[in-house]
Amino acid sequence: MTDKYAVIGNPIGHTKSPMIHGSFAEATGQDIDYRAIEGSLDRFAEDVHAFREAGGRGMNVTAPFKLQAYALATERLERAELAGATNALKFEGDRIVADNFDGVGLANDIQRNLGFPLEGARMLVIGAGGAARGALLPFLSQRPEAVVLANRTETKAIELAKQFATHGRVQGCGYDDLAGERFDIVINATSASLKGELPPLPAETLREAGLAYELAYGKGLTPFLRLARDAGVPKLADGVGMLVEQAAEAFLWWRGVRPDTRGVIDRMTIPLA
Ligand code: ATR
Repeated sequence: MTDKYAVIGNPIGHTKSPMIHGSFAEATGQDIDYRAIEGSLDRFAEDVHAFREAGGRGMNVTAPFKLQAYALATERLERAELAGATNALKFEGDRIVADNFDGVGLANDIQRNLGFPLEGARMLVIGAGGAARGALLPFLSQRPEAVVLANRTETKAIELAKQFATHGRVQGCGYDDLAGERFDIVINATSASLKGELPPLPAETLREAGLAYELAYGKGLTPFLRLARDAGVPKLADGVGMLVEQAAEAFLWWRGVRPDTRGVIDRMTIPLA
């Protein structure tokens, strides 16, 4: 029997997840049906339960439901717990198990696809919202030399860094504190690019960086990537690889088979220039 999966969000029209999982299923010979569901803003739990009752085996969860899905789960894996949010659910009888693959997808993309080891790297993450939070544990588990978290609201970065202090070297600060600092990898985990805005990042922080990574996908050369290009950063990337890699982790979790991601990433890549 065909197993049912879905991505739930609102709005959901833009989602690439059915295409990505459909490609994985075809390549690995898995018999699944994966579709997009527009969740109702005030009846998220009912929508999830209806899908389970119709035989659903798992769901990806996207904005604005990642916190509600976390609350709905009966079990939460460590990555979801530390992220305080979930992007993937697995249904097993009465159990709703929550994980979060966004951060590990990002770390895999940086290391495996882009070829930048995180071990020993000096990393700068800008932003201290849900996206930055989700990335911290996967980053710190690779033992970078340091992760500096800079945010417009400095107190949020300091607070977030404190919560992860037992997992490795991480420090929170404001943008002004970055003057004179240099990093190997700089990641934009703010939502500024969605509004076409440039975070107040001193350009000098990018001067020795090998990689500038924009979490947003499909926005072309965002103000952040433009700043990085003008500072001479040799490799610019957007979040397409992260999107496909987090999907691959969810697919593995649900189906026990790791799909190859290269072909799907290549097909989805929109040139940044
Ligand atoms: P997400 O879940 O995508 O991380 P979020 O939790 O709303 O979204 O967090 C958005 C992040 O982008 C925050 O760190 C925010 O900074 P503040 O905490 O100071 O609000 C950051 N952000 C949004 N627009 C920005 C801008 N124009 N410049 C700098 N940072 C910005």
